[in-house]
Amino acid sequence: MIKYLEIFNQRYCIKLDKHKRIKDIMNTAIIVAAGKGTRFREARKPKQFLEILGKPLVVHTLQRFENCSAVNETILVLPEEEIENFLQIAEKFSLKKLVKVVSGGETRIASVLNGLNAVDSNKTEIVAVHDGARPLVSNDEIMNTINKAKKTGAACLVAPITDTIKEISGGKIVQTIDREKLRRALTPQAFCYEILKRAFTENNLNESATDECFLVEKLGVEISVVEGSARNIKITHKEDLILAESLLKDFR
Ligand code: CTP
Ligand code: MG
Repeated sequence: MIKYLEIFNQRYCIKLDKHKRIKDIMNTAIIVAAGKGTRFREARKPKQFLEILGKPLVVHTLQRFENCSAVNETILVLPEEEIENFLQIAEKFSLKKLVKVVSGGETRIASVLNGLNAVDSNKTEIVAVHDGARPLVSNDEIMNTINKAKKTGAACLVAPITDTIKEISGGKIVQTIDREKLRRALTPQAFCYEILKRAFTENNLNESATDECFLVEKLGVEISVVEGSARNIKITHKEDLILAESLLKDFR
């Protein structure tokens, strides 16, 4: 593994680009919400637009970033056909940090790339990528991940595994994996802009990658982990929405 610090020989990413002036630097969050929600099996609209406690799910997520002082701007990635409708709805939630809404791609990673292409490279130090379907991310989780990326170049929010994990083959257990060594990758995942850009330009765009860290790992860049909470669930199946609704009441 090549350490980020060894590659650039600089502690802070901002020093990498002469065009960035200190007074301009900022952190940008890309919220990806352009999926179809096929596992959720909701015919009316994709899960990220379903209302919880009077607001679309993705608005809850955006508000977490709106309220976090480590984030200066957010870029939202949506299905092309939903953009106009969403802009009308979003007006009433006064999302002041939301600077761009761009259309998504066929895969999550293609959607992240569209968001990344909309980032202002002259001003952005850290890019934090977050799933629109994770409305329960805490302020500390966002802050800690961004701050860790500032110090080390790349950081991934993770959570412990609580079940015992088995490797299987042909319907039989092969072995038990030591779960102390394993973590679930959550979001946000945060990177110095230059690292994430390189991860997308130097790798053949791997459409099957389910997170950005995978692409950054392929660069050989070390990624720090930030311990997060099991509360930061992704709404994937219908039952997740019931849990989210109950947990979101605490955020009010
Ligand atoms: N996402 C995206 N563009 C895609 C696919 C996913 O922006 N082409 C977003 C989703 O909207 C979600 C996040 O990535 O906020 C995590 O993806 P996932 O939970 O898998 O959502 P979906 O892809 O919508 O759901 P499914 O896989 O069940 O179809
Ligand atoms: Mg998906």
